[in-house]
Amino acid sequence: MAKRLYIKELLSHDPKGQDVNVKGWVRTKRGNKNVAFIAVNDGSTIHNIQVVADPSAFDEELLKKVSTGAAVSITGSLVESKGSGQPVEIQAANIHVYGTADPETYPLQKKGHSLEFLREIAHLRPRTNTFGAVFRIRHAMAFAIHKFFNDKGFFYLHTPIITGSDAEGAGAMFRVTTLDAKNPPIKEGKVDFEEDFFGKETNLTVSGQLEGEMGALALGLIYTFGPTFRAENSNTARHLAEFWMIEPEMAFYELTDNMDLAEEMLKYLVTYALENCKDDLEFLNKMYETTLLEKLNSIVTSEFERLPYTRAVEILQESKQKFEFPVSWGTDLQSEHERYLVEKHFKKPVILFDYPKEIKAFYMKQNEDGKTVRAMDVLFPGIGEIIGGSQREEDHARLKNRIEEMGIAEDTLWWYLESRKFGTVPHAGFGLGFERLMLFVTGMANIRDVIPFPRTPQNAEF
Ligand code: 4AD
Ligand code: MG
Repeated sequence: MAKRLYIKELLSHDPKGQDVNVKGWVRTKRGNKNVAFIAVNDGSTIHNIQVVADPSAFDEELLKKVSTGAAVSITGSLVESKGSGQPVEIQAANIHVYGTADPETYPLQKKGHSLEFLREIAHLRPRTNTFGAVFRIRHAMAFAIHKFFNDKGFFYLHTPIITGSDAEGAGAMFRVTTLDAKNPPIKEGKVDFEEDFFGKETNLTVSGQLEGEMGALALGLIYTFGPTFRAENSNTARHLAEFWMIEPEMAFYELTDNMDLAEEMLKYLVTYALENCKDDLEFLNKMYETTLLEKLNSIVTSEFERLPYTRAVEILQESKQKFEFPVSWGTDLQSEHERYLVEKHFKKPVILFDYPKEIKAFYMKQNEDGKTVRAMDVLFPGIGEIIGGSQREEDHARLKNRIEEMGIAEDTLWWYLESRKFGTVPHAGFGLGFERLMLFVTGMANIRDVIPFPRTPQNAEF
């Protein structure tokens, strides 16, 4: 029995004419009466293996079934390729077809579909070169994140997906309920959530941070990495209703430590991609963004610019740039402002800090000026905000006041407040949007194209 090898291994194999077996999907078949060239891909790499078959040696009906999209197992001897496109090829001795793909109806029969069209066939698009590359890189980035934190002594903490509190107090949340939507129990004119599964109102989490802090205040260094959910109706190329977030939380860290870690992590991840995803990145660089590799390399060597929000507002106001949304102190920066700072003014990643407290979450540490909080956002070229974080308010009284001031239901946060009552310490953390990172690393333009099955308003087909 010939050994089954993955194409990634095959291509770097010494072609000694030994028998090998490859299993995968046919990308193309071309040739003539005398010879057939079958390009097979098995997902292990962007590259195909070329199979050469002599049509007279095979049943005509069998060879007909070997069409684009068909699943095959091919055995033959591995030889040096005579063609220029590949180092080795397989001379087919045996072909087995597992599953055919009717050329009349297989949607990927032809190349060159638009990304928009491919979104409508999200169940098949992983079989394209583009999405194969994106999803291999996605895996590599997830792995690198765990490696980065593990090597630094962080513990991966699993925070709940169903929560009774609202961590960000920003966008809307997705309710989790087993109540009958058509006929819910009513008490005093309102839906009675005491009758619900958990005996209270619950939602899908918008962030694992609050629970993550409880971990950091015991284990020292933790991170979460899981799905988060936001029901905001933002139909942009940078927002998903379901996205993955990485949230480290560190006891005894202050804002500068937090910035240092964020910068180190982003550089580590980009370096990891450059070193481990070379073939896929080169493909994307060629097909979509010709400055991708250059851009990735420049991040690794640049020193991120750090400046207070107040100074950023001045720069934006002094600029001659026409913005759709005017800038003034106290307003949230729009992505056009963030991108001006990063792409035009500083020409490198920027970390803004000390934002007005009114536009940030309740848990951020308040500065002495009474106006700003120890927030930080990391802004990236082409993306805008890639990371949001802060030093946390560790003072019980100040935190409680802020919760009251902002009209947040304190009964959902009593446990969070208690962490400031017993052994409180300065601590900080941040959240990296995994798909925003993926946008940057792959150079893809739309966030729907860096997650296998995107969830956006009006879209949960697959
Ligand atoms: O700035 P955000 O809302 O911060 C938090 O959730 C904090 N609890 C994080 C922390 O301090 N532990 O979100 C963090 C990041 C953003 O910078 C962005 O990259 C990403 O999450 N993000 C989204 N990504 C895709 N789609 C959305 N709708 C996103 N909203 C935020
Ligand atoms: Mg944010």
